[in-house]
Amino acid sequence: MTDATPEPAPQNATDSVFSVKNVTLRFGGVTSLSDVSLDLHRGELLSIIGPNGAGKTSLFNCLTGVYTPQEGTIVFTSESGHAVSVIGRKPYKVNRLGVARTFQTSRMFSALTTFENVKIGVESKQHTGAIGAMLRLPRTRREEHESDLKTLELLKFVGLTHRANEISSSLPYGDRRRLEIARALGTRPEVLLLDEPAAGTNPAEKVELGELIRKVRSQLGVTVLLIEHDMKLVMSVAERIIVLNFGQVIAEGSPAEIQRDPVVIAAYLGTPDSETDTGAEVL
Ligand SMILES: Nc1ncnc2c1ncn2[C@@H]1O[C@H](COP(=O)(O)OP(=O)(O)O)[C@@H](O)[C@H]1O
Ligand SMILES: [Mg+2]
Repeated sequence: MTDATPEPAPQNATDSVFSVKNVTLRFGGVTSLSDVSLDLHRGELLSIIGPNGAGKTSLFNCLTGVYTPQEGTIVFTSESGHAVSVIGRKPYKVNRLGVARTFQTSRMFSALTTFENVKIGVESKQHTGAIGAMLRLPRTRREEHESDLKTLELLKFVGLTHRANEISSSLPYGDRRRLEIARALGTRPEVLLLDEPAAGTNPAEKVELGELIRKVRSQLGVTVLLIEHDMKLVMSVAERIIVLNFGQVIAEGSPAEIQRDPVVIAAYLGTPDSETDTGAEVL
């Protein structure tokens, strides 16, 4: 099933970008994460899979400051070695640490062009505020030029140069997902969290997204954490896979190990009918 040989994990693979220990997240009577411990190693391409409702998006929300778990610790360590707790930190502050994400459902400014959407990501990293922009201070003009160049570079990287001036809501679905990745990369992250980036795309677009995800890691050196429903895509890009089920980590291993893990197969076989398209037959 694997249609590309994943690159070997870098030598400093034991150096963790995120270290999650004993995290439990509850909503009233629902426990969406139960005593979850895992590490995202610097430079790796890790995928998190699991049936619907397993807690994958909840985990992303904990990593990015959207949700505050009731128990456990989450530590982010930057390339410079600076370690901070993410818990209780606001999402925009987590982003400033070097953590960018995309969302399960497409989020963009649909009335703006592709270029403008990506530029928003690039400019969120800059220092000049709205007043500087209005006064057109020299530094602002310089930054504007820099952010235009950076935006064009990112559009080229994700293959959307030809769509730069199109209104984003008119883009084909696969291109919208690439746009979201470009915008997230605009914040110059050390780690990129992708929540079902291939949702809603066709098979050809899925292959292209897989190539883009690999490129993010190999050419930009960005650590990637991928939640994805499409097993073919996961198996072709992930170096390591962690499986969640009912809020718990039930398996961890290489794509080959996960595909033959009886616990994982049982979890997918136990999935309701609505998910049979991603069930055991594709594992
Ligand atoms: N904001 C919330 N309020 C209440 N329940 C939530 C909330 N977010 C997630 N959950 C619950 O947590 C569980 C895991 O959901 P989620 O993390 O979205 O799963 P996945 O992304 O794996 O499909 C589900 O039972 C879901 O209903
Ligand atoms: Mg989800």
